[in-house]
Amino acid sequence: MSRNTKISIRELTKVFYKKKQSVTAIENISLDVEEGEFVCIVGPSGCGKTTLLRILAGLENQSSGRFKIERSNEDRPNQSMVFQERGILPWLTVEENVAFGLNMRHLPKTYVKERTNYFLRKVGLVKFANMYPKELSGGMKQRVSIARAFANDPEILLMDEPFGALDEQNRYILQEELLSIWSETKKTVLFITHSIDEALYLSDRVLLMSAQPGKMAAEIKIDLPRPRKLEDIRSNPEMASKFLDIWQHLQTEVQGSRL
Ligand SMILES: Nc1ncnc2c1ncn2[C@@H]1O[C@H](COP(=O)(O)OP(=O)(O)OP(=O)(O)O)[C@@H](O)[C@H]1O
Ligand SMILES: [Mg+2]
Repeated sequence: MSRNTKISIRELTKVFYKKKQSVTAIENISLDVEEGEFVCIVGPSGCGKTTLLRILAGLENQSSGRFKIERSNEDRPNQSMVFQERGILPWLTVEENVAFGLNMRHLPKTYVKERTNYFLRKVGLVKFANMYPKELSGGMKQRVSIARAFANDPEILLMDEPFGALDEQNRYILQEELLSIWSETKKTVLFITHSIDEALYLSDRVLLMSAQPGKMAAEIKIDLPRPRKLEDIRSNPEMASKFLDIWQHLQTEVQGSRL
């Protein structure tokens, strides 16, 4: 483990039991994520990506293995998760949802208000601050969840396909926002996506998982300078070849898992 390791995972395995059946969701996953690193995880549906993130978030117990998240500041939450299926509270307004984690920490009201507004602006939801989740579209709810995770100022961000429900334009705006906040705050990000383009655009490193039981299959470094432009990635031959590598890996794994 190097000195700047933020997350270290060793031989993590999760087996789900239901009656007499068992499903091994992830098997023997070991990896390190450096402080400030942006890591994307891609893998076929059902390979255990969400399970891995839920274990790191403390929402699920592993069956064996261990992990550690290094802390640098005890006043901050350890991690914030942006869920695949949103996870916002229906009885709170948009603003109250974004402020939720900050209010839990009993921070000064004016500070909470300022910070909440800042992130509502970032995700383009200022006008909807007083609405309730049921009055919003799917993509808007997703943005509330993203704003809340950022507002929390966690040590690490765990993002489970956060932009999956968005149209291309909003997806791009939020990818840019995420990168700009990330470069300002240098947070450690673990980000799940099904989009190879998204992984190439955002990350320092792409981790490929195999189909169930999910194992780490390969690692691809993305050493493009930042800030990046989508056009640059499209026109870069090295990136085109990385895209193909990931594509082929996924195709093999998905076909294998459908047999
Ligand atoms: N609470 C649970 N109880 C039983 N089995 C579960 C539970 N949660 C997940 N699983 C199983 O574990 C496996 C991995 O699920 P997981 O949701 O982690 O996959 P995923 O990689 O996130 O898939 P997707 O890309 O479709 O979101 C699946 O076979 C799933 O059925
Ligand atoms: Mg998932």
